[in-house]
Amino acid sequence: MNSREAERTWGLEVYPKRELTLVRGSGAEVWDDRGRRYLDCVGGIGVASVGHANPAVARAIAEQARTLVTCPGIFYNDRRAELLEKLVSIAPPGLTRAFLCNSGAEAVEAALKFARLATGRPGIVSAMRGFHGRTMGALSATFRKDYREPFAPLVPGFSFVPFGDADKLRRTVDDQTAAVLLEPVQGEGGVRPAKPGYLHAVRAACDEVGAMLILDESQTGFCRTGRMFACEHHGVEPDLMCLAKAIAGGVPMGAVLAGDRLPPLIGKHGTTFGGNPLACAAALAAIRFMEDERLAERAEERGARFRDRISRKLPARVRAVRQLGLMIGVELRERCRPTLERLMEGGVLALPAGSTVIRLLPPLVITEAQVDEVVDVLVAALAR
Ligand SMILES: Cc1ncc(COP(=O)(O)O)c(C=O)c1O
Repeated sequence: MNSREAERTWGLEVYPKRELTLVRGSGAEVWDDRGRRYLDCVGGIGVASVGHANPAVARAIAEQARTLVTCPGIFYNDRRAELLEKLVSIAPPGLTRAFLCNSGAEAVEAALKFARLATGRPGIVSAMRGFHGRTMGALSATFRKDYREPFAPLVPGFSFVPFGDADKLRRTVDDQTAAVLLEPVQGEGGVRPAKPGYLHAVRAACDEVGAMLILDESQTGFCRTGRMFACEHHGVEPDLMCLAKAIAGGVPMGAVLAGDRLPPLIGKHGTTFGGNPLACAAALAAIRFMEDERLAERAEERGARFRDRISRKLPARVRAVRQLGLMIGVELRERCRPTLERLMEGGVLALPAGSTVIRLLPPLVITEAQVDEVVDVLVAALAR
């Protein structure tokens, strides 16, 4: 039985699969089981920012695996201590502590609980087209009906406002609102960056009613948008920030960064794996690599290069290109699935974001020549 048959036979599939078995990666490239090379603009869905098989991350994982893999939060640990200090040192100034977990959805769950605990209020306001994960709390803040409805009843107290409409948000939040939860760039919802001024207005609306602002930077964090965190584009500081995906160079990890507004959390939340030394060692190596290699600047440059190149030969089927750093959405005037398949035939892997948007989240180590190759293959795929 080959890998595809085995996964189909033994797996409980939750994703529609592509006919491709990936077995190896290096930088921005991956290879299938037949030795064919692809440029990887899926990047583990925005995870592989420091590149596949990053040598510094691989070294850190191997060394930590020989030293201590697991250490629950009931004990102190040297690697965890180092990572917590590092995270706080790179965070926006008001965020002074971090909680470590294992995924984006877990980070969102924790942030929702922390906000309810801190305010004593039930209400959570999130955005239409927003995505925050598949667990029950995170799903309650996620907009797509087809993701939510089969699992009703979800958690009570959640409501949605149009993303970008500050007036509507101001009219929605009140003294029962624990938090407003937003992505600075909506990822799954079609790669839609917050307009200038919007997050400031949201911050002010939260302050007016005493609600917390939670920014979900699971996808936008760690240099993806050309800054360490996307909120830096806006100069807005959240009360809680959710992190995941690229944080640990591909090893599963999530985090919530918080300010001083939280009450004591002991006994109120927990996680067996969260903050394990293996993931912490990987995260430390990944973050050091991001800093040493100036990946934020690189993402900004390479993203601008992509936009510049594609704009010169924009195919008629493209309605809009939205881009912040290397978080790129190419909205088509038609469904994107056939183009994604033609891209794969041409050697480029990409994602959908909704039914008409092609989403590109390449490793931030992608070279200029590789960016040009992605543009050429995309233009060719859209010309056919
Ligand atoms: C903004 C955002 N939040 C949360 C999640 C959920 O993360 P995970 O799949 O690690 O649970 C995602 C995943 O795509 C995301 O993009």
